Amino acid sequence: MKATWRDDDTPITPARLGAEGVLSDRLPLDPAGHQPALDRLRSERGYVAQDVVELRPETPGLNAICAKFDPEHLHDEDEVRFVLEGAGVFDIRSSDDRWMRVVVEPGDLLVVPARRYHRFELTEARTIRCVRLFQDMSGWVPHYRAS
Ligand SMILES: [Fe+2]
Repeated sequence: MKATWRDDDTPITPARLGAEGVLSDRLPLDPAGHQPALDRLRSERGYVAQDVVELRPETPGLNAICAKFDPEHLHDEDEVRFVLEGAGVFDIRSSDDRWMRVVVEPGDLLVVPARRYHRFELTEARTIRCVRLFQDMSGWVPHYRAS
């Protein structure tokens, strides 16, 4: 995981991310290694559902799917992603409205807190496969930020 301030390109430490309410961690890629940690997170934070989402260049409607995540938005619940394959770029607002850029790759766990503006895009490889945890399936609905 690589986290930087977008305005001056300086690094952001995991501690600073944590102070911003953004949880980040590294977990093993094999299920036996990461599932106990995900189960702990579920019981600590009240996530009730888990699935795997996969986007690839050949995914039908990929551009339309990406267009839903790309504009700045928030959710009523945490956005929890554990990356199994591929990569992605999260831009997350800090508490003082600066952009924090977090590039995730396999083994990265990232939790964008509820009600925090963010956006997401794929890298050039246009491939990501990740585990998602949900507090409520309906909470995933994006609320877009007024421009
Ligand atoms: Fe989101």
